[in-house]
Amino acid sequence: MISPKINIRSTLESISAEVLNGHNYIRSDYARGILNYPAMMVPSVQEPIIEKISKTFPTEVSLMDPFMGASNTLVTAMKFGMNIFGQDINPLSLLISQVKTSYYTLQELIEAQKVLKERIERDRKTKIEVKFPNIDKWFTRPVQLHLSQIFRAIKQEPELKIRKLLWVSLGETIRLSSNDRTSTFKLHARKQSEVQKRNISAKEIFFSTLEKSIKDINNFCKILEEKKHIENNKYKYSAEVKWGNSLAEIKTKKKFQIMVTSPPYGDNHTTVTYGQFSYLPLQWIPKEDIDDSINLDYLRTTQEIDRKSLGGRKSPDFENAQNYLFQTCPTINKLFVSYNSKEKIKAEKIINFFYDLDKTIDNIIERIVPGGYMVWTIANRNVNYKEVKNTEILTELLASKNVCLVTNLERDILSKRMPNRNNFSDLMRKEKILIFQNRE
Ligand SMILES: C[S@@+](CC[C@H](N)C(=O)[O-])C[C@H]1O[C@@H](n2cnc3c(N)ncnc32)[C@H](O)[C@@H]1O
Repeated sequence: MISPKINIRSTLESISAEVLNGHNYIRSDYARGILNYPAMMVPSVQEPIIEKISKTFPTEVSLMDPFMGASNTLVTAMKFGMNIFGQDINPLSLLISQVKTSYYTLQELIEAQKVLKERIERDRKTKIEVKFPNIDKWFTRPVQLHLSQIFRAIKQEPELKIRKLLWVSLGETIRLSSNDRTSTFKLHARKQSEVQKRNISAKEIFFSTLEKSIKDINNFCKILEEKKHIENNKYKYSAEVKWGNSLAEIKTKKKFQIMVTSPPYGDNHTTVTYGQFSYLPLQWIPKEDIDDSINLDYLRTTQEIDRKSLGGRKSPDFENAQNYLFQTCPTINKLFVSYNSKEKIKAEKIINFFYDLDKTIDNIIERIVPGGYMVWTIANRNVNYKEVKNTEILTELLASKNVCLVTNLERDILSKRMPNRNNFSDLMRKEKILIFQNRE
């Protein structure tokens, strides 16, 4: 039942531009920095929206994110004592989310850190623990040696929950110590001359990353304690994160009052290559310590995760997909009319992406209670130098399913690290937060 007293539209529209633009945001808030996953949402922006919407429900609130990424939305909801559920197709996202939605005591973390450091310092072995094609292109020999020492030490940690946190720190260390450039999400090796000039110690990077992660996680756990959401060393409400392809299914039978997400803005290849970004860390993190049941051979190639993500492959019924989208979304139709025949072929990816998104929306709607809310953060982008109005297309897709737009809020995109820019595709510097309500 929804409280009739609150005019949700005007309440949401009263959120100041400063808050929406993230001016009060602190980088380390909500353990956001434990691994710099691409395109993370800003908790301080989501916070007032989640809080205001949840107040319209008199009962306990459950929130889901079907594209959870680094689970910044989920942890924001945990602060308000909600039941949370999230899933993502990227195993690295799952690992980060498992850590961020767990409760750790400072004592257990400090003890584990001490033992681990001693193990690493004692290790004199020279065996390289991981083998994969082109390892020498991506890691110098000294870095491989250090990463192998850290790998062996983490493997000896008896507690899985602690190992997961240590693997996340190793993942961030890999991001910072590999020969991959950190300026883009695509795998792109630094020049040899640059690699030779770099003077880095993967061990030192790991120790400082772990130190900072422990501090950030502890700060977030303290917030949960202060809010009285912790009982017997556990989050009192339900917190579930899973590996899952939201296009195929949402892996829960539960229902939710609120869905808050930021979906991909197009196929990963031409927007954000979450999969390529995760390829090197995932080589060093044992699958059985993330979730042994993941049935995606994600290390087969550097492209595997991106290909399986929304819009990653050509639709098997492309003609049908195209006709359906032209009929349902006047905005897509108009865009394609404006392309010449060569551009149309290049823009087929737009059809593949939105057809996948449309089917995913059907799966999501099934899990939302009547009258429940959906909050989508999304930006427009350019394809073939023409604007793909993602926000309007999403609104048209949802309207065709009886889900109405309540309001939309605009914000500046903070991140300076933009995805690859090329002739084909480019992202905008503004994004919209679209708030919809499911039919009653
Ligand atoms: C913008 S990020 C999500 C950000 C996240 N909501 C947050 O709070 O930081 C988009 C995510 O969608 C995921 N994704 C892409 N295709 C997917 C699919 N078919 N099923 C599940 N997740 C998918 C990507 O792996 C990526 O982590």
